[in-house]
Amino acid sequence: MPDVNGNYTVSSFFSGAGLLDYAFMDSFKIVWANEIVKQAAQSYCANIGNHIRVGDITRIPLNEIPSTDVIIGGPPCQDYSSSGKNKGEKGERGKLVWAYLRIIKAKKPICFLFENVVGLCRKHKETLHRLIEQFDKMGYTVSWKVLNANQFEVAQHRERVFLVGVRKDLGFVFQFPENLKNKTKTVREAIGDLPAPDGSFSNHIATWTSPTPERIYDVMKNPRPNQFRGMRRVPWEGVSPTLTAHLSKDGRETLHSSEDRRLTVRECLRIMSVPDSYVYPENMPLTHQYKATGNGVAYNVGKALATALKSQLNAVPMQISMF
Ligand SMILES: C[S@@+](CC[C@H](N)C(=O)[O-])C[C@H]1O[C@@H](n2cnc3c(N)ncnc32)[C@H](O)[C@@H]1O
Repeated sequence: MPDVNGNYTVSSFFSGAGLLDYAFMDSFKIVWANEIVKQAAQSYCANIGNHIRVGDITRIPLNEIPSTDVIIGGPPCQDYSSSGKNKGEKGERGKLVWAYLRIIKAKKPICFLFENVVGLCRKHKETLHRLIEQFDKMGYTVSWKVLNANQFEVAQHRERVFLVGVRKDLGFVFQFPENLKNKTKTVREAIGDLPAPDGSFSNHIATWTSPTPERIYDVMKNPRPNQFRGMRRVPWEGVSPTLTAHLSKDGRETLHSSEDRRLTVRECLRIMSVPDSYVYPENMPLTHQYKATGNGVAYNVGKALATALKSQLNAVPMQISMF
């Protein structure tokens, strides 16, 4: 239950560079986090706090993880994604949804938030239903919903499935925030005011050699706006297609709306609605910066969920104990 200052404690799993945590940190007190990739964890540390432990979650003993009021996390999504191998829970990374469930079972937080790609509630809905069934047996009422970031003033089509489990003794079912602003932001509104990408603004430097001018010319000559693989331009007056971790790969670049270059990391962060106060360390390799951005939860969506969760928890009578 919250401390004297009204703060609920949180532990965060599969934290990446902490985009979800960045949205949660104003409403919750994050005390522990975990991430396997050290470069992402380094950025987490610089922007959120040094409570992050680097390592494979399946190798960290449960007794080394603190018990907190709330648990948040988005297990790796590649195995549930149509752009990935679609191996589902049989995949090395897909099976980590069960690692997350084991942690909830052991730590019994008062509530938890789980995020993944929509493949989990479409092609892999069997896995989703079994997860919900197990959470129910463990004493949680689970609400789930697909939220599209573009309905939260994010200049991006980004559908993700969110599950929120609330321990049954709290007596309420989590209500998802309704398309809070219901106003679409355009790419121009998100990035149009940025200065030239010459490095004078944090994480905003153009790499003019990748992709090559020949390949950009080819895309301009034969536009493939909805093409999934390969390069694509983001439209000035519309929303960006979903930014994924593939951003970091050669040949999957997302091009600027009118300049012949890929988007800078800052532009990608803006298209994820991440405030400019979030800055990747200068020595973090660019591929890791793009990857962590594409892996993240859109900031406005994380913020709306954190705000809704906190206000619904605050409405619960205080005598309910933690265990
Ligand atoms: C979908 S991303 C989470 C992004 C994060 N929620 C955010 O908003 O920035 C999943 C993360 O899980 C990490 N991961 C994958 N396998 C892991 C493991 N065995 N233990 C810990 N972290 C792991 C990946 O490196 C990746 O950063």
